[in-house]
Amino acid sequence: MSDTALLDVREVEGGYGEYRVLDGLSIRVGEDEVVAVLGPNGHGKTTLLRMISGLLRPARGSIYFHGQPIHARAPAEIAGLGISHIPQGDLVFPQMLVRENILAGAYLRWSERCERMRRILEDFPRLVPRLNVPARVLSGGERRMLALARGLMGGPQLLIVDEPSLGLAPSVRDSVYALLRKCAGDGISMLLVEEKATHLEGLADRVYVVESGRVVLEGAAVEILRDRSQLLRAYMG
Ligand SMILES: Nc1ncnc2c1ncn2[C@@H]1O[C@H](COP(=O)(O)OP(=O)(O)OP(=O)(O)O)[C@@H](O)[C@H]1O
Ligand SMILES: [Mg+2]
Repeated sequence: MSDTALLDVREVEGGYGEYRVLDGLSIRVGEDEVVAVLGPNGHGKTTLLRMISGLLRPARGSIYFHGQPIHARAPAEIAGLGISHIPQGDLVFPQMLVRENILAGAYLRWSERCERMRRILEDFPRLVPRLNVPARVLSGGERRMLALARGLMGGPQLLIVDEPSLGLAPSVRDSVYALLRKCAGDGISMLLVEEKATHLEGLADRVYVVESGRVVLEGAAVEILRDRSQLLRAYMG
């Protein structure tokens, strides 16, 4: 990875009020890189992503995107810089139509939005027959696809996905990962959070393992994913 990272999270601390979740956590994502953050339940992975996308302010530390500090910026500004965050649990608008949910993912002129949606939908054939139903009737897999499609509408440079495989049947999970591979092939950098390393082979370039709000292990994905015993030790402290 080059010296100027696309995303550079430095020694971030903070959490919810007095409750400190992150404790001096640092990670980097390079241009065209796919980075995975792994770690057990409740150790701060989602909190980290919320800090990157501006939903939470770090109490200490800094976050740079393209060398610019973003840790004091508002979420809409950060999204506008090219960071798209697909939250854990998808958080689609249940009463809105699938089409409206997708279109809500970008602030563009109407004609451009429709054109971009048309292009994105080429990769989401399962959503096409569902465009005019409310998002609440979608299956879990369709909802995950919708969240991804909405996230891509902004044309992100950095796509952040919180637990892309969470709660999905194996075949749907494979389709989600195939899509993520395609995004990586299209040159979108990625920061993925997962609890387990199972599906990351062939996608992630580097891996960080987070425990108690700190990085306890980091390295090239091929090495870390090969040595499961090392991963297991990191998980067990
Ligand atoms: N809104 C909140 N208010 C207070 N505490 C919270 C809030 N959200 C999360 N926490 C706490 O912060 C800690 C870290 O949570 P976080 O969601 O970052 O973990 P995680 O690693 O993403 O776990 P999971 O695998 O369950 O998604 C947990 O102890 C959690 O209970
Ligand atoms: Mg989480």
